[in-house]
Amino acid sequence: MLENRRFLLKRRPEGEPVPADFDLVSEPVPEAPAGGFVVRNYFASLDPAQRGWMDDVPSYMPPIALGDAVRATTVGRVHTSDNADFKPGDWVMGLNALEDYSPVMPGGFTSAIDVSLVDSPSRFLSAMGAVGLTAYFGLLEVAKPQEGETLLVSGAAGAVGSVVGQIGKIKGCRTIGIAGGQDKCRKLTERYGYDVAIDYKGKDVDTLAEEIRAAAPDGVNMIFENVGGDVMDAELMNLAKHARIVLCGLISEYNAPEKLGVRNLWQVLAQEATIHGYLISAYVDRFAEGGAQMAEWMAAGKVVMDEDIQEGLENAYPAFMRLFSGANTGKLVLKIAE
Ligand SMILES: NC(=O)c1ccc[n+]([C@@H]2O[C@H](COP(=O)([O-])OP(=O)(O)OC[C@H]3O[C@@H](n4cnc5c(N)ncnc54)[C@H](OP(=O)(O)O)[C@@H]3O)[C@@H](O)[C@H]2O)c1
Repeated sequence: MLENRRFLLKRRPEGEPVPADFDLVSEPVPEAPAGGFVVRNYFASLDPAQRGWMDDVPSYMPPIALGDAVRATTVGRVHTSDNADFKPGDWVMGLNALEDYSPVMPGGFTSAIDVSLVDSPSRFLSAMGAVGLTAYFGLLEVAKPQEGETLLVSGAAGAVGSVVGQIGKIKGCRTIGIAGGQDKCRKLTERYGYDVAIDYKGKDVDTLAEEIRAAAPDGVNMIFENVGGDVMDAELMNLAKHARIVLCGLISEYNAPEKLGVRNLWQVLAQEATIHGYLISAYVDRFAEGGAQMAEWMAAGKVVMDEDIQEGLENAYPAFMRLFSGANTGKLVLKIAE
């Protein structure tokens, strides 16, 4: 008999999640809801945002309820269906959960996908999915890069950051990436085309600020912020006049029991800069347009996106934690089924 393994949120993490916050259970495969279908999940996206969804605080989405499977974007195939538009065997993506089978009511983020366009369906969780498009729309629509400008990116070797840098180069910008460790910094310049790579590990705010200044003596015109905390404080000391800051993520704070906040905010005022809080969900109706451009750039070899595929629902916890140790090398994806 088929089983539905589900990775549940048992209690809300305090600071860094620990294994006891979760439970892996086995339940019967659900029935297709009236007008909907059941998807057999093959790949699930592991994202820093899931950490935020585990907290019971006001956000752009309700928190994951205790006892529910951890919410995740997945790609998979329709298993059973009560909807003529989604037939068994069709490939789909949507906001589901870390589980073998998810009941789905079409609408919202659920869409059919054409896996013949890609070498692996997981691409719809990376370059062709919300993560690649987070880089695309955040840079092009929010930062609006102009040729010759300087773009500074934190979390630059990660899924979003690596693509931001490459699109910045396509648009004729000088790109500076900040990442953790020598290997990632080498990758920034050798694989993702960054002009300058800066390793933030083990450096205080002043040292990091000086290194950014050496790379951009006239200041940076754009910051694509993925990290926050000390890294952002160092960046803020290097703003050019009227700089634009895309506030995409603050991963250094997601597991921090006490949010310290950014201390050099006065630089935003001094340089008449703009901070724009940015969510990819604002661009869902333009995904087809962005996806087509990303596919073209990838086919032309102008954009690469690495995937870090971890195997098995039973490994969901250690796989998820790779995001916070920095162990992930590219878009972190959990493979649930062959
Ligand atoms: N606004 C939106 O709509 C949206 C959508 C998607 C993602 N995001 C945000 O974008 C950011 C990147 O997400 P991603 O999916 O591309 O993940 P990712 O960058 O592939 O992986 C996370 C990386 O963050 C770095 N990191 C982890 N803890 C850190 C800390 N305490 N200080 C500094 N760096 C730390 C690590 O890289 P190092 O080894 O370099 O430290 C790690 O590899 C996140 O902040 C996420 O929340 C926002």
